Amino acid sequence: MLTAIIVAAGSSERMGFDKLFALVSGKPIIAHTIAAFERTDCVDEIILVGRADSLGEMQKIIGQPTKVTQIIAGGAERSDSVRAGLDHLNPKSDFVAVHDAARPMITPEKITRVFEICRTSGGAAALAEPINDTLKRADLAAVAASAEEAGDLIIRESVDRTGVYGMQTPQVFARKLLEEAYQFVAKTNVSVTDEVSAVELLGRKVVLVPNHDFNFKITYPRDLPLAEFVLKQRASVPSS
Ligand code: CTP
Ligand code: MG
Repeated sequence: MLTAIIVAAGSSERMGFDKLFALVSGKPIIAHTIAAFERTDCVDEIILVGRADSLGEMQKIIGQPTKVTQIIAGGAERSDSVRAGLDHLNPKSDFVAVHDAARPMITPEKITRVFEICRTSGGAAALAEPINDTLKRADLAAVAASAEEAGDLIIRESVDRTGVYGMQTPQVFARKLLEEAYQFVAKTNVSVTDEVSAVELLGRKVVLVPNHDFNFKITYPRDLPLAEFVLKQRASVPSS
């Protein structure tokens, strides 16, 4: 059984307002995200992790019938919210997909593919985006005061982008492996920004599934019209 944990308990600081309830192509961002998992045959149930003060609002936007079995409160850090989801897993779940609610452009095809790869490759797989830009490491040291105020930086070195990927979600795991990884994280008190990083700490193999489709995380106001365009276009050509 595959359970999806959709984490939606962030504070949208860079957006300036609760981004997950922003209307895009006719419905809230979080409704698009939930709908993708509802439409994915291999997903048996969904646990929604939200801010304590928006659980009621979330309850209102989930459809009927729904795979959402629980709507629970998250924590201060993303990893706390994932942990809250893990604490509420159905005893029958043997696979877990973790997904950012702020990635509404995910598709059933991609969710299914990451799950398949997870099942057939040792229990850990995640979507990731190839990096196309030239990469530099840079910092503030020795920048003129005026430039520093503007946020300008001095380049220190080039970073080879060969084999460099930007991690996305969903990230799908055998339940036991993800639980073990989160126990290790709790015991050693390291901070991780995604689940793959937690599993890497155990030295276990994780397979990357390159994604050439749009799945960017809605972060800034400028992302909203782009998401609107992508989602509207998909709605008009459902098979693409
Ligand atoms: N998230 C969460 N619990 C947290 C922090 C983040 O469930 N304590 C979720 C967000 O709701 C989002 C996903 O993790 O779906 C990715 O986080 P991000 O895009 O950084 O969203 P926010 O943390 O809300 O935004 P910001 O960092 O700008 O405050
Ligand atoms: Mg954040």
